[in-house]
Formats: sequence, C-alpha cells, structure tokens
Amino acid sequence: MHLTKALAVLAGLLAVFCVSGAAQAAELEGGPVVNVGHRGTAGLAPEHTIASYDLALENGADYIEQDLRMTSDGVLVVLHDEDLDRTTRGPAENCTGPVGEKTLEQVKTCDVGSFFNERYPENARDEYEGLKIPTLEEVFRRYGTGTNYYVETRSSEAPPGNPGVDASSGMEEELLRLMDEYGLGEPAAGSWRVLIQSFVPASLEEIHAKDPTLPLVQLYSDEETGGTIRADLESAGGYAVGIGPSMDDVDRGLVGSAHTRCLAVHPYTLLEEPDMRRLIDLGVDGMFTDFPNRLEGVLGEGAADGNSAGIESAEASRACLSGAAPEVPDTGGIPLLPYAALGALLLSLCLLTAGLRRA
Ligand code: G3P
Ligand code: CA
Repeated sequence: MHLTKALAVLAGLLAVFCVSGAAQAAELEGGPVVNVGHRGTAGLAPEHTIASYDLALENGADYIEQDLRMTSDGVLVVLHDEDLDRTTRGPAENCTGPVGEKTLEQVKTCDVGSFFNERYPENARDEYEGLKIPTLEEVFRRYGTGTNYYVETRSSEAPPGNPGVDASSGMEEELLRLMDEYGLGEPAAGSWRVLIQSFVPASLEEIHAKDPTLPLVQLYSDEETGGTIRADLESAGGYAVGIGPSMDDVDRGLVGSAHTRCLAVHPYTLLEEPDMRRLIDLGVDGMFTDFPNRLEGVLGEGAADGNSAGIESAEASRACLSGAAPEVPDTGGIPLLPYAALGALLLSLCLLTAGLRRA
C-alpha cells in the first residue's frame, strides 16, 4: 500500500511537471485577430486606391495592404499586377504592359478606378472614375503613423524585355528609406505598425539583414500544401514573425505548428463569413479580406481597434519569443498537456485500484 501511494504521488508529480513544462513551452497566444484590408477593400472600391484605403479603415480594417511595384525611374507605386492592363485605363503606351517599364509620369496618366465600375456595377461610384495609382510615399504621407500598413514586396524577377534588370532591385532599400523618412521604422519594430510580407524569401532575408527588428511575414502561394508549408516553418522562423498561407491550406495542424514557433498565421484572401468563422475557430491571428466590414461583423465585440491591433500582436509575439524553448516539439497542433495529464491520471487510478485490491 505504501508503494502504491508513493507511485500515485509520483504520477501526480508527473502531472504537475507536465503542467508547468507546458506553461514554459512557449506558444503564440493571446493576440487579437487582425483585420487586414486586402488592397484596401477590394470588394467595395477600386483596389489599391486612396478611396479603397479610406473605406477599409472606415469599415474596421486594422491594417491596409500595399502591393509594391517599382516604376522604370525607381519610384515605388502601389499596384498588384505586374502589368497595368487589368486595372487601368488610359493611353495604351502608358497604361498597358509592365509597370516596371513605365515612368511615374506615364503611370500617373492611367485611370485605376473605371475598371471597378465596369466590373462591379453594383458598387460603382462616379467618383471612382479617374482615380490614380498612388505612390507608396503618397500613402505614407496621407496616413502617417496613425494607421497600420501591411506592405508586400513583389517579384524579384527581371521584367520582360529587360532581362539584365532586377525588377525589384532597390525595392527593399527604397521601402526602408521611406519608412524611415515617415517615422515608421520604430513603430514597425515595436508595435507592428508596418508588417512587411513577401512570397520571396530572398526579399525578406534582405530586409532582415538590413534591419532584424522589422516584423516580416512569409507568404506561401496557393500551390503549396499545409505539409510543404509546415516543412518550411523552421526556415521562415529564422527571419519572420508570421506566415501568410492561402486560406485553403490552413488547418489546426498548421496553426499549431506555426504557434509553437511563435509565428502568427494571417491567411489570404477571405470573402465569405463562414470561411472567416472557420479560420477564427482554427486559431488564426488575422486574415486578409476584401470585405473588412464583414470580418468586423464576425468578430463583433472581440474586434480589435486599429490602434491596439498591432501593439497587442507585437506583445503576444514578444511574450512567445521570450519564453521560447529552442527544442519545442512539433506536435502538429495536438496539445500535449491534456494527453500527459490524462495519462498521469489513468496511471494514478490503476495504481490506486491495484493497491485497494491488495489491501
Ligand atoms: O499578400 C497577401 C495576399 O494579398 C496575397 O495575394 O496575390 O492578392 O497579393 P495577392
Ligand atoms: Ca498582396
């Protein structure tokens, strides 16, 4: 009986050990679900325009997204596609083909609002006609340090017809210069005022090498799978604070694996409320949406406000990283603690039963 009691105590101690061990094993938790306005609010206004950013912020976006392209004269402009054709109208010599082959003066002759009115008549507005492609500097000047930005460096490939030139050559440097000029470097590092994302690891590694304090997010194309993304997390964790997978690649295992490495998970691109709810249930830390108004409604009272969203996300990340044990096991999102505690409990019961039988 004494031996049984001793073993039961040992099992109890094991449970306590498991509890305290799990508490020390860092995991990203406690941050808000951030509402990222994809290209502003691309479902309601012409993407990547000031009108789209204003509306996204009015509708509850915590972050506004900028896809970066560089003009042939080295100016960063905000445009998703490599080519101007889909979203712009205007003189063909200026408004068709790769934006990287046009000067800023040419790009500024293009209308980036009319395509939206043509394509989405239900949300068309007269004032969208004639809107211009903004430069990144114009965006920073307008919103200053009062808004959170989610900036994407796009393409490290040479533009067609210009194989010797790296289209993104200088993009990272110019982005950092503008962040510095507009007082966004420190708020980015401390409060995640600016998150920098890219599908191209080399681009993020370049920025990390220049300034390791900046928060970076590794994007994964929709050609990846949850498994291939998980296999890359260790590498991404070397320079990034988060990952941006396609929404269809997200499951509990991926979120768990990312969180054990203190990586936030911000999937793209959400349109429908049931998908938003599903991803929130899976534990994501934010998401890109064409409809920040819908996500705001889904989050309800739990929605962060734009000011605190970055600050709280940065705090959660730092808390995780400061407690991170280097050899956190990848359990694929399966929480170890309940299993360990249950095992200890069962062991205790077995031992007690055996002891009672003998007594
Ligand atoms: O950056 C996240 C999301 O925007 C990625 O998709 O193609 O819209 O840039 P894309
Ligand atoms: Ca993007």
